[in-house]
Amino acid sequence: MRYFPELNRGKCKTYVVACERTRKALLIDPVRESISRYLAFLAYHRLTLDALLDTHTHADHPTGSFQLRDLTGARLIMHRRAPVPAVSEHVEQGDIIRVGEAALRVLYTPGHTPDSISLHAEDRVYTGDVLLIGGTGRADFAGGDSGQQYDSITRKLFALPDETLVFPAHDYRGNTHSTIGQEKRHNPRIAGRTRDEYVALMASLNFPMPDKIQEVLQPNQSAIDDDKAKFPDLTELNKVRQLTADDVSSLLAQSNPPLLLDVREANEYSGELGHIPGSVLIPLRQLFDRAGELDAHKGRQIVVVCRSGVRSTTAAAMLYGMGYERVYNLKDGMVEWNDRRLPVER
Ligand SMILES: [Fe+2]
Repeated sequence: MRYFPELNRGKCKTYVVACERTRKALLIDPVRESISRYLAFLAYHRLTLDALLDTHTHADHPTGSFQLRDLTGARLIMHRRAPVPAVSEHVEQGDIIRVGEAALRVLYTPGHTPDSISLHAEDRVYTGDVLLIGGTGRADFAGGDSGQQYDSITRKLFALPDETLVFPAHDYRGNTHSTIGQEKRHNPRIAGRTRDEYVALMASLNFPMPDKIQEVLQPNQSAIDDDKAKFPDLTELNKVRQLTADDVSSLLAQSNPPLLLDVREANEYSGELGHIPGSVLIPLRQLFDRAGELDAHKGRQIVVVCRSGVRSTTAAAMLYGMGYERVYNLKDGMVEWNDRRLPVER
């Protein structure tokens, strides 16, 4: 296996891991503005782009994965809870990602986001935004959870040997890497803190919301990469009422059940997770144009459904904006519906 130095030389980190025999390469966390640089780099080193991987749904920069996937045909790998439809392979804790003869093990490390993974290979671990050098990723938006983050770091990452090299997805101080032992002993956020202390610390930090967060986040969550697309703002998204899979299942058993509106792509609707029987399919990208099809249901309860509950929250907020008042979201989407073993059709 060959590990190349970080490619961006900036605050966002992009890494390449390659198999020396087959010359197949994996690109981790590419950013959209540097796509040409990555393609030139790969060509110079005579590598074939076999796979792209986002360690999580990014909120601070548009991902380069969608365009690189379209340009090269490389597969896109993300965690099972990643909301975006463009993913070709979903992975979970313990899975092995193979790129030629290179192999990386997936550690599921949620907390910064629900779809955060780390990748462990030989002497190193790529930690995404869960564990940074002398810091941790924020856990206060996009489904973050500081308690989960503490568990991911202390139980999974700190369980690796102390000498394991740490390569995060961000660094703001010019560091290139650290080690598990160093973070265990000196990371000012987490070293020596209990879970409760860490949660309290993270709650006290009060970072400002990043600029234009929804304008970055929603295209990364939906693969709708269209400058003209209008996404709901955070206030609108926060108004969406969330129902659990069990709530929705009991509503469906009533005499006047809600309309189920599935906003995934057609291939997902008939794919591995299936769909809830009786649900109507209108992909999110077509919702504005096809909302007229829902006119007959304006007074009815509507539950919006997608893969992980993210695109459907966007759709529900859009429907509110169009005057639909009784709109709800299926929290955690079809991933959770399947995990609860509720009925699906394929
Ligand atoms: Fe992030």
